[in-house]
Amino acid sequence: MTIKAIVLLYLVGLFELSWQHNQSLKCNRYVTQSTSYSRSGASFSLGPHFICDVENVKEASEVRVLIEEISKPGLAAKNPSEIGAIVFKASTLLKIPTEIFKEFTNLTSFAANDVQLRLITRDDFMDAHNLASLSLRNNLITSLEDGIFLNMKNLRSLDLARNLITEISEMTFIGCGDNLYKVDLSFNKIKEIDYATLAPLAHPKKLPVELNLNSNEIRFVKESHGVSHLVFEDLSLEDNFIRSFSCPDVKITELYLNNNLLETASFDNCSVEYMAVTNNKLKWLHIHKDLKGLIAPRNNIESFFVNGDSKMYHFDLSDNGQIEHVFPSLKSMTTMQYLNLSHSIVGILHEDSFEKMTQLKYLYLKNSGIQIIPFGIFGNNKHLMTLDLSDNELETVDLHMFTGLEKLKTLDLSGNKLSAIEGLERIKTVLPELREIGISRNNWKCLNLSVLIRTLNQLQIKVAADEPTELREPRGEDQGSISGVECY
Ligand SMILES: *[C@@H]1O[C@H](CO)[C@@H](O)[C@H](O)[C@H]1NC(C)=O
Ligand SMILES: *[C@@H]1O[C@H](CO)[C@@H](O)[C@H](O)[C@H]1NC(C)=O
Ligand SMILES: *[C@@H]1O[C@H](CO)[C@@H](O)[C@H](O)[C@H]1NC(C)=O
Ligand SMILES: *[C@@H]1O[C@H](CO)[C@@H](O)[C@H](O)[C@H]1NC(C)=O
Ligand SMILES: *[C@@H]1O[C@H](CO)[C@@H](O)[C@H](O)[C@H]1NC(C)=O
Repeated sequence: MTIKAIVLLYLVGLFELSWQHNQSLKCNRYVTQSTSYSRSGASFSLGPHFICDVENVKEASEVRVLIEEISKPGLAAKNPSEIGAIVFKASTLLKIPTEIFKEFTNLTSFAANDVQLRLITRDDFMDAHNLASLSLRNNLITSLEDGIFLNMKNLRSLDLARNLITEISEMTFIGCGDNLYKVDLSFNKIKEIDYATLAPLAHPKKLPVELNLNSNEIRFVKESHGVSHLVFEDLSLEDNFIRSFSCPDVKITELYLNNNLLETASFDNCSVEYMAVTNNKLKWLHIHKDLKGLIAPRNNIESFFVNGDSKMYHFDLSDNGQIEHVFPSLKSMTTMQYLNLSHSIVGILHEDSFEKMTQLKYLYLKNSGIQIIPFGIFGNNKHLMTLDLSDNELETVDLHMFTGLEKLKTLDLSGNKLSAIEGLERIKTVLPELREIGISRNNWKCLNLSVLIRTLNQLQIKVAADEPTELREPRGEDQGSISGVECY
């Protein structure tokens, strides 16, 4: 994944203080730049501010002391408005210390993770006008009051992961600021989501949101009437119990639905650029023509349909059982560059199976039940660099089957039933760029293997070892005695 936060902090001052028992306060003065941003370009900076770590606070009265201490002239800040961030650690708060927002009016970042917060209300944040980042992870919060974020018009990043929230409603995010672009609600107990609920977060005039709802208890993602044109940067719904998903008139850059219970899914009205649906129960899949990348291993996709000219260039359909009937729709995907069909049964390959995929660079067909490679099948794949045919049922291979693969650098034929490679003398002409070949675990005849290895040595083509993936140089050119390569 892309790096989403870059923090540049210049420490220019520090003060420390302990009081009462072992409560402590450590404030570092930084000349900004604490900049956090997303792919959509959202960013915010803390300004020249103190960042204060507070430890071992156990009672509300201690917060009062804390505020007084920080505000003592000359001790920390000259002025309470210089305090930019407060982070509670190893503390027990039970409720939000609202005095902090009243006192430190410029506070942009507040974190109270793992402090046993149970209840938060809209009024708690009445004075949090400048807050850009709020982190309340790992607490015991069960619900979110309607309009709870109304008073935080500058909020950009909200972290409520690992709480006990069961529900979000249409009113939860109502009135949240236009800059709220990052919301983490993962590891909660949310059971249901509909688009009306998410509408205030995903309004098209707002910054596109990265919403994380992974590891909740969501069963349905429902359509809602009168909600349209929603926009998400990331929508993560992994590790839930979702059986049906729809996305009417919604635009999503990256959609994550791995580890759910999806059986049928129609994404044809949902403009998604990248989608991951690994480990579901999908049988048929209809996708929007704008989809560029689809990661769908560990399903049972039998039928596949695109509503128009597909733009897809990365497709992982590995580990899907029988995909014979998917081929007719695959064939027309002319923009494909990476195709992984490993551990799926592709059926009989035809001369035109990859004919239209003229941009193809990586093709993985490991353990796909292939018995025969038809001559001419790669005639149009002159950009292909990697071809993995390992662990199939190939008994014969003639180099002329690879005609057209002018750029092929890596070919894996290990784990087949080959006794010899025919047409070997043409290897330089047919595969001029070949640098590496996998040949282990076949039924090589020793005489033929020694010819093969001598040829590979002469052309300085490496023989790739099976396991581990590190390459091993052939040794003893006449015996073909490379580890993992045996002959009879
Ligand atoms: C505070 O200090 C006491 C003893 O000095 C220690 O037993 C206790 O664990 C400390 N409390 C915390 C929360 O660290
Ligand atoms: C606090 O915020 C006010 C306005 O919001 C601003 O003018 C002032 O410079 C800020 N103070 C600091 C120390 O950043
Ligand atoms: C997609 O939209 C079209 C036209 O609005 C509609 O006919 C079709 O039923 C929709 N498909 C799904 C799966 O919602
Ligand atoms: C292709 O898919 C298989 C099975 O899901 C996976 O193990 C393998 O890493 C994938 N290959 C590549 C190059 O991504
Ligand atoms: C394998 O070796 C035998 C014996 O040298 C030879 O007759 C046969 O043509 C070779 N097969 C191939 C495909 O090169």
